[in-house]
Amino acid sequence: MENFVYHCPTKIIFGKGTENQVGSEVSKYGKKVLLHYGGGSIKKSGLYDRVLKSLKNEALEIIELGGVQPNPRLSLVKEGIDICRKEKIDIILAVGGGSVIDSAKTIAVGVPYDGDVWDFFIEKAEPEKRIFIGVVLTIPASGSESSDSAVITNEDGMYKKGFNSNLLRPDFAILNPELTFTLPRYQTACGASDIMAHIMERYFTRVRDVELTDRLCEAALKTVINNTPIVLREPENYAARAEIMWTGTIAHNNLLDTGRIGDWASHKIEMEISGLYDLAHGAGLAIIFPAWMKYVYKNDVGRFARFAVRVWDVEPDFYDIEKVALEGIKKLEDFYREIGLPITLKEANIPYDRFEEMARKCTEMGPVGNFIKLNKDDVIRILEMSK
Ligand code: NZQ
Ligand code: ZN
Repeated sequence: MENFVYHCPTKIIFGKGTENQVGSEVSKYGKKVLLHYGGGSIKKSGLYDRVLKSLKNEALEIIELGGVQPNPRLSLVKEGIDICRKEKIDIILAVGGGSVIDSAKTIAVGVPYDGDVWDFFIEKAEPEKRIFIGVVLTIPASGSESSDSAVITNEDGMYKKGFNSNLLRPDFAILNPELTFTLPRYQTACGASDIMAHIMERYFTRVRDVELTDRLCEAALKTVINNTPIVLREPENYAARAEIMWTGTIAHNNLLDTGRIGDWASHKIEMEISGLYDLAHGAGLAIIFPAWMKYVYKNDVGRFARFAVRVWDVEPDFYDIEKVALEGIKKLEDFYREIGLPITLKEANIPYDRFEEMARKCTEMGPVGNFIKLNKDDVIRILEMSK
């Protein structure tokens, strides 16, 4: 096991009706709030009205900035920074999914920074301060509600990039599984895929003697695999929605990689796809992850066989562990298909003509991945295998 520091201070408020506590929670951080949200799902579901009522009950001053798109854009972040400075906002309240939360996080670190907020994404600067951040989560997927990262797309070249900092963990996050009842099937499936990817990025490590986190990862994966088909059949099944929602947070708050070194190549490659083609991140991962697995599994067949046996209940075969390993990858692909996700670029209508550009952008800061390091040519091969 590697040395580690685990510091995840986000306060989690979980359960039915908890969004009604948002006003009293926000009031602990100041008097003036920027209410940040996406394209309108919160208005349709009635959540917007409940949040507003709760904020008004505490006599908070509210400024609004809606319109965050999936794969959130830098231009709206900059608009948010200007508003926060002008209005002297104390806290940004993100009501939505990963896109809204990442936009809010980036605004929060951008407000006290003198330079261009994009500097954080290109490793030109590190944030030192931020204003407060609160979250009401509406889709379990990104884990952004307590993660240390933010991912933004810069329209200038459609560069989608993320950066990490412990400052990016929100001050509090309200998680009510009932808020996810309105999710369309496709978004539910994309969320499940992203949660699984966050676990698998950590699971496929070269670090030895990590039994506890191996087993935690396997349990978390099994929880998503068991409950996703249930919520696709019964969107209002609270118990199953709750399992997925809590797993989504645990999957990406770094608990599961304590003492390990995760991989993250699949995420970096996927960002090139969702950045250029505006595909949902979870759908892109369903395409890239199996291709990555097929490309790298020979470097540690035993770990892939363990994944097959422990997570997918593949029959062990000590005389042919490669067959077992490959069966696990196939089970993963079958699962993605079963929940309605594409597993090839063709199925997602992604053209094949920009592999070179994607691989160059993906590796421009150096090789990607830790399970094995991948250079530009490796990335092109993985994209070829995703056709
Ligand atoms: O915009 P609205 O109208 O709200 O609709 C959203 C959006 O169209 C809709 N939606 C969300 N909650 C809903 C709902 N529709 C009905 N009922 C609800 N309860 O779902 C769509 C997708 O929302 P989005 O926020 O884009 O989804 P997600 O949470 O998957 O976030 C994806 C973004 O997060 C980034 C991804 O790259 C992507 O940009 N990630 C962020 C991470 C982080 N900060 O730690 C880690 C991840 O690996 C990921 O990269
Ligand atoms: Zn992800």
